[in-house]
Amino acid sequence: MNKTKKDNYKNFSSLLLNWYDKNRRSLPWRALPEQLPNPYFVYLSEIMLQQTVVSTVIPYFSKFSKKWDTIDQLARADFEEISSYWAGLGYYSRAKNLHETAKIITNDYNSIVPCDRRKLLSFPGIGNYTASAIMAIAFNTKSNVVDGNVERIFSRLYAIDEPLERSKKYIEEISEKHLPNQRHGDYAQALMDLGSLICIPKSPRCSSCPLISYCKVGGTADAKIYPKRLPKKIKNNRYGLFFCLINQDGDILMTKNNNRGLLSNMDVIPSIGWYEEGKNYFSKSPTFITKKDSLLGLDWKILEKIIIHIFTHFKLNCSIAIAYIDNNDISKAKIDNKSYRFINSQNLQKLAIPSLIKKIIKYLQDEKIF
Ligand code: ADE
Repeated sequence: MNKTKKDNYKNFSSLLLNWYDKNRRSLPWRALPEQLPNPYFVYLSEIMLQQTVVSTVIPYFSKFSKKWDTIDQLARADFEEISSYWAGLGYYSRAKNLHETAKIITNDYNSIVPCDRRKLLSFPGIGNYTASAIMAIAFNTKSNVVDGNVERIFSRLYAIDEPLERSKKYIEEISEKHLPNQRHGDYAQALMDLGSLICIPKSPRCSSCPLISYCKVGGTADAKIYPKRLPKKIKNNRYGLFFCLINQDGDILMTKNNNRGLLSNMDVIPSIGWYEEGKNYFSKSPTFITKKDSLLGLDWKILEKIIIHIFTHFKLNCSIAIAYIDNNDISKAKIDNKSYRFINSQNLQKLAIPSLIKKIIKYLQDEKIF
C-alpha cells in the first residue's frame, strides 16, 4: 500500500473516531469512555442484537443483566425462567444457545468469556459476525465487524453499483482495509452509530457526516439509492389452522411446541398446516375442518378472520378455529395433560409466547372470544 493510501485510511478512521467521541450512543451494554467493557454484557447484547433492533433489545438487556449479572448466574438459571424473560424478543433458539454457551463458559472456561475467535465460534449461537463483534468490542482486538449498517455505509462511500446480495465479499474486503490500528472496539461501534444516526437507509443526513469528504455520493440525491438490491422475491404463503379451545373458566389450551426449528420449545396454541404451498395440506386458508384434522374430535368453528404474520422466509396466513368445552367434558376429550394445559389469561405473561401467538390471543381478547 502506498503512503498516501495508508494516510487516507488513517485520516478516515480518525474522523470517524472523533465524531464518535462526541456523538456516541449511550447503550446499557456499552462501557463508558475510560472504562473496560464487561465481556459477558457484550456477549449477551450481541446475541440479543442478532436480527433485532437496538430499541427492542434495550429493555430486555436491562432486565436480563439485572436478573443475571454474571455469566455463571445465567448458567445456573432455570431455562424456563430464561425463556420467560426472553419471551417477545423472537428467534427463540437464541435463548437456548445463550444458556448452553453460558454453561460451557462457566464450566470449561472458569466463567471467563475467552478472548479467542476460534473458541467463540465453537460455542452454540456464535457465528462470524458475533465473534467479530465480541473480539472488537469486548477485547479491543482488530476485527472486521460488518453488519447491514456497515454494508450501507461502504456501498455509499464507494458507490457500489453491484447489488448488495452480490457485493458482500467485496464490501468486507474494503472495510477490512479501513480498520485502524488502535481503538478497535470504538471503531466498530462508531460505524454502527454512524449507520444508525447519520448514514440511515431512507434519508441519509449527509450534511452531518464526518466522512462526507470520502463519500462518492455524500450530499447527493443518489445517496439514498445505495445499497442497490436485487428485485424482491415475493414471500411464499403458508397456511396454518390454530385450534383455540376455551374451557368454562375462560382459560385457553396451550402446548409446548416440540418442533426443532421455528418457535421450538415455545408455548403455542396448537395448530396444523404451515407447510410450503403445494407441498402438503392447506394450499389456501381452510374453511372447514375434516374429521382427520379435528383436534380432540370436538366441534370446531373456523372464524372468517385471517391473521397474517410475516416470518423471514414466508408469510403465514393463520385461520382460527374455536371451540368451547365444559369442564365435565375435558376428561372425556382425553386431553393429554403432559402436552396440553389450560392457561388462565393472567398467567400468559409467565410463558414464552412467540409474537405470532400473542397476535392471535390479542385478537381473541379484543373480540371477547377469550
Ligand atoms: N448491532 C449489533 N451489535 C451492536 C452493538 N454492539 N451496538 C449497536 N448495534 C449493534
